[in-house]
Amino acid sequence: MKTVHTIAETRQQVRDWRQAGLTIGFVPTMGNLHAGHISLIDEARRHADKVVASIFVNPTQFGPSEDFDSYPRTLEADSEKLAAAGCDLLFAPSVDEMYPEKNRTWVDVDDLGDYLCGASRPGHFRGVSTVVSKLFNIVLPDIACFGEKDFQQLAIIRRMVQDLFFPVRIIAVATAREANGLAMSSRNGYLSTAQKQQAGAIHATLQALKARIEAGERDYPALVQAGTDQLTQAGFVVDYLSINHAGTLAPATSPDSHLLIAVAAKLGTTRLIDNVSLSIARDR
Ligand code: PAF
Repeated sequence: MKTVHTIAETRQQVRDWRQAGLTIGFVPTMGNLHAGHISLIDEARRHADKVVASIFVNPTQFGPSEDFDSYPRTLEADSEKLAAAGCDLLFAPSVDEMYPEKNRTWVDVDDLGDYLCGASRPGHFRGVSTVVSKLFNIVLPDIACFGEKDFQQLAIIRRMVQDLFFPVRIIAVATAREANGLAMSSRNGYLSTAQKQQAGAIHATLQALKARIEAGERDYPALVQAGTDQLTQAGFVVDYLSINHAGTLAPATSPDSHLLIAVAAKLGTTRLIDNVSLSIARDR
């Protein structure tokens, strides 16, 4: 695997591959890689001849009181994991490379960013959409892989690609989980062993809510309350637990048939997110 730090080197390598008739798969990351990221690389390899990964802790998607400074930067270990997974090119730019001047052009996807994490992390998705646009313009991939754990991010990127005619196909990859159901996340590294066990309650709560909806319950506020109580009793401070339309991400109403149950909750100082989606028969 080749590692480069500049836009020019990335473009040169991608140009060479394109001239040789090869297709490009892309996996953008912020590093501190785990098995979930590797499953994105594996998926990209299934769809493209060459795979590019990026590692860039993007300052514009962190709020002023969030963990940008302390976010784990583990480039050496990440490089080894990417090389072992068969990644062909790692693009690991500096902040100055990606934001050489005060940024004045932003990509902001309306509506989809208003709910869930968008409501509690103002500006977060604007930072994500902007950096992903920059990365797409540098890497020019045919396909790009994103994890379903960040369901809202995935929905926003899909919409951005549609609205701005990016010639890239977005591929969603199922959430990788620990044995107790905890969604794999770079932020799990902040958890103690005991907290990791405790955090299995998030997936269990989502699955229980899903089962109740599949069994016919439609009182969404009551279900949200039950799930919130369950997580609170398990030691979490719930930021939101919400049942939404899986397409618009707006709060669900009972005729909606494609649903997303999403949660963000803090365990100690660590904010964890997870979701499940489900399809139900439309109520008459
Ligand atoms: O999901 C992430 O790791 C980040 O939000 C992304 C897509 C790499 C943009 O910085």
